[in-house]
Amino acid sequence: MPSTKDQYFSFLFLLLTSTPILTSAALCDKADKSALIAIKSELNNPPGLSSWTSNTSCCTWKGIDCNTTTGRVTYLDIFAQNISAPIPPSIAKLTALQSLNAPYNQFYGPIPPFLGLLPQLTFLRLDGNLLTGSIPPTLTILNLLLAGNRLIGPLPPSFAKANFATVILYDNQLTGDASFLFGRDKNLNALYLQNNKFSFNLTNVEIPEVLDILVIDHNEIYGSLPAEVAARKWLQFDVSYNQLCGPIPQGRYTTHFGAKRFGHNKCLCGPPLAPCK
Ligand SMILES: *[C@@H]1O[C@H](CO)[C@@H](O)[C@H](O)[C@H]1NC(C)=O
Ligand SMILES: *[C@@H]1O[C@H](CO)[C@@H](O)[C@H](O)[C@H]1NC(C)=O
Ligand SMILES: *[C@@H]1O[C@H](CO)[C@@H](O)[C@H](O)[C@H]1NC(C)=O
Ligand SMILES: *[C@@H]1O[C@H](CO)[C@@H](O)[C@H](O)[C@H]1NC(C)=O
Repeated sequence: MPSTKDQYFSFLFLLLTSTPILTSAALCDKADKSALIAIKSELNNPPGLSSWTSNTSCCTWKGIDCNTTTGRVTYLDIFAQNISAPIPPSIAKLTALQSLNAPYNQFYGPIPPFLGLLPQLTFLRLDGNLLTGSIPPTLTILNLLLAGNRLIGPLPPSFAKANFATVILYDNQLTGDASFLFGRDKNLNALYLQNNKFSFNLTNVEIPEVLDILVIDHNEIYGSLPAEVAARKWLQFDVSYNQLCGPIPQGRYTTHFGAKRFGHNKCLCGPPLAPCK
């Protein structure tokens, strides 16, 4: 029987001698590489992607990360590259993608439904683009960041059963109900819906246990503030410029943010606003 120490050293030896095929530089899934080359072409070969050349491993390219054992592309970053194009269809072929980070470009057209069908995707960031149309029902992605686009219409009903951690949709023209994002047992910890046209009754929503950012100002939200808002340690909180009414539930963290975060509603009252009549 070899000792544990021997096993350790033979493991180390194997690791060292096989290092060249373990490094991400040597590994680059062939199909993923072809998909990336197609994506580059669909983006009209922008200067920011000049490192994407077929004679090097795709895992060394700017904005790309791979799984080091499989060589599959897991991370695609196209941050603020002044790219003006639709979302490249060939992204659909990157089926091991976990994170797509492409804010602050001029991506236009609709958000393609296939993004929500990428089985590993848990982070989708497309804020600060020119995307239009409504949010596709498939987009039930753990961290969904679509602020600052031209998105319209209601949230898809499929969002009611989705497992979100972060939902950031501010500065769009979204309408209708968003109450189904709430629920005591949901994992939602940050919700930013400000500057849209959401219109729903807040009275009976259950604030998720883990929610500590609730920024929903400048909408058409009505009803009253649920009692639970008084009991939370808010990191950020803003319900101003809505149609809310009734007494503000009193707690350390609601008054902490001051009148500004409650102002310009229909008839919210009590500290930090004027007393209720
Ligand atoms: C890869 O090709 C590009 C142009 O096609 C060239 O500029 C670059 O030097 C080549 N890199 C290597 C490592 O051969
Ligand atoms: C890389 O892929 C393998 C095989 O699919 C998987 O078991 C492993 O967890 C992945 N590694 C990372 C860091 O995601
Ligand atoms: C962005 O691209 C447009 C053309 O698509 C060009 O006119 C403009 O100068 C570019 N801006 C920057 C900061 O590169
Ligand atoms: C909001 O819902 C509550 C509870 O169901 C109800 O009493 C109230 O009238 C509703 N508010 C508005 C403005 O519809």
